[in-house]
Amino acid sequence: MTKRINKHYKHVYKTIISRRSIRRFQQKKIDPEILKKMVNAARLAPSGANLQPLEFFIVDDKDLCNKIFETTSWAGYIKPAWKPKKAERPVAYIIILVKEKNNPWYLRDASFSTENIVLTAESNGIGSCILCKINREKIREILKIPDNIIVDSLVALGYKAEQPITVDFIESIEYWRDENEVLHVPKRKFKDVVHINKF
Ligand SMILES: Cc1cc2nc3c(=O)[nH]c(=O)nc-3n(C[C@H](O)[C@H](O)[C@H](O)COP(=O)(O)O)c2cc1C
Repeated sequence: MTKRINKHYKHVYKTIISRRSIRRFQQKKIDPEILKKMVNAARLAPSGANLQPLEFFIVDDKDLCNKIFETTSWAGYIKPAWKPKKAERPVAYIIILVKEKNNPWYLRDASFSTENIVLTAESNGIGSCILCKINREKIREILKIPDNIIVDSLVALGYKAEQPITVDFIESIEYWRDENEVLHVPKRKFKDVVHINKF
């Protein structure tokens, strides 16, 4: 039993540390049941005062995906400006909506739910990229979302067509692509971010 539990936890940890933002996708449909699982995981995330101010909009219709793609911006540090080619675009999106503007915790709730979405994707072998540089008004228009609902952010999804790697942060936090088009993502070293018992 303990052995089985340990294996389960190891899997969660591995999923967390291996997830990277994916910006190139295979054009293979995601089973709608897996997309629903992602929203189910989002729904069950921690929520400030358990107020649960969020709703989630799944888009996997091809025409709608094409329209949503036009509202997105990708990999701001890559110059010249870059976006996925037509044959590399996301095949689904989950849009994070907020129905209670006055909830002081909604950004935290959105962050936890989003992490649950990307980890559920990763554990199903699906790549994801959180996108906040988006045209919210255009998304509202495309999806006919009522004015009283906030369009917070979205998660772009699809089976991976790239595998970025992490590197130790040295001078710059800007990610970059090498000559083989592999994305290198600088991360601060453990020893530089941790304080144990004293600052
Ligand atoms: C709040 C937030 C907003 C983001 N917005 C975008 C975005 O608009 N476009 C994009 O390509 N990536 C976006 N990202 C992805 C980040 O660039 C990415 O998480 C960061 O470079 C670290 O890489 P990693 O996710 O592979 O660890 C966003 C991530 C977060 C957390």
